[in-house]
Amino acid sequence: MLQTRVNSGLDGVIVADTVMSEVDGEAGRLIVRGHTIEELVATRGFEGVAALLWEGFAPAGQGGDTQAVRAGLAAARVRAFADVPKLLQAAEGLTPVEGLRVGLGMLADSDPTPHHYLVCGALPVFLAALLRASDGKPALAPDPSLTTAQDLLRMVRGQRADAVFENALDTYLATITDHGFNASTFTARVVASTHAGLISSVLAGLCALKGPLHGGAPGPVLDMFDDIGSLDRAAAWFDDAFAKGTTLMGFGHRIYKVRDPRADVLKNTVATLPKTSGRLAFAVEVEKSAIAALRRHKPGRRLDTNVEFYTALLLEALEVPRSAFTALFAVGRVAGWCAHVFEQEKVGRIIRPQSNYVGKRPGM
Ligand code: ACO
Repeated sequence: MLQTRVNSGLDGVIVADTVMSEVDGEAGRLIVRGHTIEELVATRGFEGVAALLWEGFAPAGQGGDTQAVRAGLAAARVRAFADVPKLLQAAEGLTPVEGLRVGLGMLADSDPTPHHYLVCGALPVFLAALLRASDGKPALAPDPSLTTAQDLLRMVRGQRADAVFENALDTYLATITDHGFNASTFTARVVASTHAGLISSVLAGLCALKGPLHGGAPGPVLDMFDDIGSLDRAAAWFDDAFAKGTTLMGFGHRIYKVRDPRADVLKNTVATLPKTSGRLAFAVEVEKSAIAALRRHKPGRRLDTNVEFYTALLLEALEVPRSAFTALFAVGRVAGWCAHVFEQEKVGRIIRPQSNYVGKRPGM
């Protein structure tokens, strides 16, 4: 049998065909089902992107049409709200993303709600309930007349947010919905390849997303801003960080060798929000200083800004607590995981690579 040795990070290894999205790391371009990310978020919100991703893969009538998807997700939010008391009891003392892990784990494979709707509807409801509980406030029932972004902000804040905030959250969720074979998507597909089902696959994706090298980066980006404090300290701060071997959060990417195109989509979205100009100007200068430091300390590595840098700024402007950033990422990415689970189940084989045993052998 032909055996091929690849590197442990699977860099540059193609393991599947997909129609979902393409990340062009040299051109700095993201295509989602035939559309550039810039065009996509200018024309579709979160439900529209989810509908596009699921088209031709979800059961008949449950993908492709934005209005049908919007109605399906709204009904699923209502269904998920019934689980909130059980969730709050089980998730006491946990962080928001740990709470979502518990919440997804409580969903039954036998639930009659279409499972892609169920997980995508459950995450915003669970997240809002967890955030309110951490403030000592009761959970608010979903409003099925609203979009995911509108309803999530309402369920967290207790009342509808201004349209500019709702639109910004909608853009964020749409922007991050799918992104090639990132670690969480690949994880979800591995689990889907065993036919474990959509809920289990999505739960596995969430667990992979949780790590600071993947979806856990934006909180630490703001911690970095705090630590830098004022711009005159930035260059020295970065030199010190490299001397200590610190990884700069919000920079570097396995695929992008140039700037991540989602960074500018989110940067432009931050600029639409009131009272962000000072913070945005600070971030732009910190970013310049970080890039200059990366060029000084990691010459030839081609490291640039990734999506998490301006995610941090956007979520801060939306008054999302830092502890909930990763959980909010999951609310958007879950639609992409579902799409990949559908695709894997339709065309994929069980994913089962090999390892090279380097341990002791009997008699050694
Ligand atoms: N800060 C400092 N140095 C870096 C950074 C960074 N953010 N990213 C990469 N490097 C350096 C590495 O130290 C390494 O240097 P070396 O050759 O001297 O050893 C070189 O660049 C290559 O880096 P790798 O670790 O091999 O890159 P890899 O593709 O494995 O890692 C990753 C990609 C995990 C995203 C990395 O760049 C990183 O840790 N970034 C910070 C965390 C972050 O922002 N994650 C979010 C990514 S986007 C997302 O997942 C949604």
